[in-house]
Order: sequence, then structure tokens, then C-alpha cells
Amino acid sequence: MVVMKKMTSNPNTNSSKITMFTGKGGVGKTTCAAATALHYSKTGNTTLAISTDATPSLSHIYELSDKPKPACVTDSLFVKELGHVEVKEMWDKKFGKDVYGVFSSFVDIEYPEFVEFVTSVLPGLSDEFMVDYIRELTLNDEYNAVVWDTAPLGQTLALLETPALLSEHLKMAPRIYSRLKVGRTTREPILDIIRRWEKLSAINMDFLKDIVDFTLVTIPEALAVEQLEDIFRELDEYELKVKRIIINNVAKDDESVFMSTKHNQQQEYLRRIHNTYSNIEIVELPMFPYEIKGLERLVEIERTLFSES
Ligand SMILES: Nc1ncnc2c1ncn2[C@@H]1O[C@H](COP(=O)(O)OP(=O)(O)OP(=O)(O)O)[C@@H](O)[C@H]1O
Ligand SMILES: [Mg+2]
Repeated sequence: MVVMKKMTSNPNTNSSKITMFTGKGGVGKTTCAAATALHYSKTGNTTLAISTDATPSLSHIYELSDKPKPACVTDSLFVKELGHVEVKEMWDKKFGKDVYGVFSSFVDIEYPEFVEFVTSVLPGLSDEFMVDYIRELTLNDEYNAVVWDTAPLGQTLALLETPALLSEHLKMAPRIYSRLKVGRTTREPILDIIRRWEKLSAINMDFLKDIVDFTLVTIPEALAVEQLEDIFRELDEYELKVKRIIINNVAKDDESVFMSTKHNQQQEYLRRIHNTYSNIEIVELPMFPYEIKGLERLVEIERTLFSES
């Protein structure tokens, strides 16, 4: 698959191709994301592999020991792991000073302490700004492709839901704040901030809907297949589109009893996935007898994932 730069009139684009990897814990999201990013970088795209997992493992898979930001795997492949520091910076840049201006008129608090407090306690803020961070990345021309590795499912769905939920909640906020017994000089800036934030949430939701392609990673086991159906329902609800399903850890029917037993057991689940999602590109990735770490191993995964291109 060759990744082309998109040139559309959508205000969210300018723009790079962006693929988010999601799925339940331990199914191989990071491994597949790392191999996909490697593929994009080898096919002429300046590529960023970025993680929003609080316990990221991209650096580990690429065997990066140095910590420049972003870290460099090859001339055209970079790695970034987003954390609290970046979220704090984004909040600071977009809202920090304004909100502090209002807040500090009735609470005695220093600015750095205030930013630290808000970004660590406000629910959804961290998720919102991670989405926003990646949206902004796609707006400048630095990368042609962005591969987004996420935390296990629960956290990722929360991250995907946040812009829509925030936008919904913020709609009520002006009514509540306009009843606050504060003077006009305090109330107007608050309302302005709320309106701006609501707009940002809507833009971020549109970005997830219009620009981001989702790749679902799963394994051929009962629980994983059931959860796959749940993920589709949730993504559908927010009109997010799945472009590809990767079925990882597929057992070959070889001479060992272990593998052939596993192989036989997996057939039912493989059939179910192929039948249910026949309209989506599905690729199977075999179970390897070793840990996937380092470029040499990743190239093997890359070859399987992109064998048709
Ligand atoms: N096809 C495979 N064959 C053998 N081992 C694999 C395969 N795919 C992944 N692994 C191994 O499984 C482990 C988990 O993989 P990975 O970290 O990619 O999963 P994850 O979905 O990102 O996990 P988490 O939900 O914790 O982020 C790793 O040790 C990886 O090397
Ligand atoms: Mg992972």
C-alpha cells in the first residue's frame, strides 16, 4: 500500500495519512504498528510512529536506547511517546493563561502549580489534548504518514469518546455559568473559554472521523472475537471507520501437536471473523516462535502485513 498525501478542502487536512492501531491488551498492536510504520517509511514516506499508551513500548520494539524527541530509527522513521509533559504543554499553549486569568482572580495560586493541577486532575483533558496533538501533527508538513499506537482497549475508547463527550457536556456549561453569582468581568471570559473548548472538541471529533483510519488487531480466540464485535459497535456509534483487521498469532498446521491443536481450535474463530467482516481488508499474521524485537524481526512482520503491495 503506497501512502499518498491527501489534498482535500477539509480544514483538518493538509495533510498526512494517519492510521490508529487499536485492540484489546496484548494482541500485538504495538508490534503491528511498528512494522506498519517501518513499511511506510521504506515506501517513500517520512513517518512518525507515535504512542499514546501510558506505558509505551515502541522504543523497546525498535530497540532505541537514546531518548531525543522524536527518536530516530532510520532517516525516514521517527518515534514519539506522548505523555503528561506534552499534554501539559498543549493545555498551556491553548487555554492555560486564559483559564488561569479567571481562576487566579478568586484563588491564590502560582501559574505552574495551576497548570500541573488542572492537567493532572481534569477528566478527559489528557485524552483530548493527545488527540489534538496528533491532529496538529498532521496539519504541518513534517510527516507524510503517522502511525498511532494506543493503550489497550478501555483507555483507547475513552480517548476516542472524549471529544464527543466533552463537546456534549460543554454545551450545558454556559447555562450553568451564566447563573453563577459572579460579575460580568469574570463570567464573560469563562463563557468564551467554554465556547473555544467546545469548538476544539468538535474539530477533534471530525479529525477522528474524517482523517484517521483505524486498524483493529485481534487474535483468533473466543474472548477476542467477542470483543471485536463490541469494538465495532462502539466505533460505529462515533462513525469511526475501520480500514483493516489484523488477525495476529495465527497457528500453522505443522507437525507439532501444540501447533496443530491450536490451529484446529482457531479455525472456528477465523471463519467467524472472515464471515462477519467480509467487506473489510483482513490480513493474518502467523504466530512466531520468538519475541518480535528489532528491525530484522519487524521486517518479517512487515512482509506478511504488506505482501500484496
Ligand atoms: N505474531 C507474533 N508471534 C509471536 N509473538 C508475538 C507476535 N505478535 C506479538 N508478539 C509478542 O507478543 C507480545 C505483545 O505484543 P505487543 O506489545 O505488540 O502487544 P500490544 O497489543 O501492543 O500490548 P499492550 O496492549 O500491552 O500494549 C510481545 O512480546 C510481542 O513480541
Ligand atoms: Mg502496546
